[in-house]
Amino acid sequence: MTVDARLQRLIDLAAPYWAGEAEVVRTYWTSPKRTRATDLLWLSRQCFKEFWGSGVGKYDKGGIFLGVLKNIVARADAIDTGFDRHEMLDLLEGFKAEFAHYCAFADVYDELRPAGAPRLNPKRLESWPEEDALTALRFRHQEQHGEIGLRACKLTEGGYCGLFREGMALAGKGGVDGTIAAACALVYEDEFGHMLGGIANIVTEGLSDAEWKLLGELVTAQLQLRIRMRNAQFSGPLSEARVAAIFRGEIEPVAFDYRRAGLAA
Ligand SMILES: [Fe+2]
Ligand SMILES: [Fe+2]
Repeated sequence: MTVDARLQRLIDLAAPYWAGEAEVVRTYWTSPKRTRATDLLWLSRQCFKEFWGSGVGKYDKGGIFLGVLKNIVARADAIDTGFDRHEMLDLLEGFKAEFAHYCAFADVYDELRPAGAPRLNPKRLESWPEEDALTALRFRHQEQHGEIGLRACKLTEGGYCGLFREGMALAGKGGVDGTIAAACALVYEDEFGHMLGGIANIVTEGLSDAEWKLLGELVTAQLQLRIRMRNAQFSGPLSEARVAAIFRGEIEPVAFDYRRAGLAA
């Protein structure tokens, strides 16, 4: 099985940015900026993304947890009379997976917090400007470009699991690093699947050349904001000059696993 050339071009476009997002996290682990306070900050921000994050799916406006939950309730009446049972099953599975991600990172946070500091809970979580900018862009893409915009959001979800892969690489290290690695390993499997959800069927949907081009532009714009979102989440391990260099393509791209993605024999 050979990979569709247009899909390959799209992945080639995304691969340097995916590598850039991974570089943010990898650099952070050994950065002089890293303290317990910055660890607690990125963990709470990741919990924000897993619980309140939005702009990725058509059902998650209002936050992954409450937005999707409201949709499940609203559609319960229409199962198999307008809302396909398998679509409901997908919703429920996605709902459980994202809450499991929230739990995984919240558990690491609670383990790491100083004695006497309050436990984490969803109402205490806050967004940050670069996360808001990414979310706003994703909503704008969906509003302006409909299905193509949604497709771009799905494709960029999780950023080829950069955070989770680099977190897993901490396995075997002592203390909090081992705990972070375990949480990231749990999330990694799900998020690889979620990204593939953005790729599934893309070739068979008969997109026009103009639509492929638009998809590439939307994906590029989102992935650039993802790098800024991650860099801010992790207290800025990469300099602005390094971010600019990554945007110019001065980075070894991620090697996309076509076989794992089911796109090559
Ligand atoms: Fe997640
Ligand atoms: Fe996800």
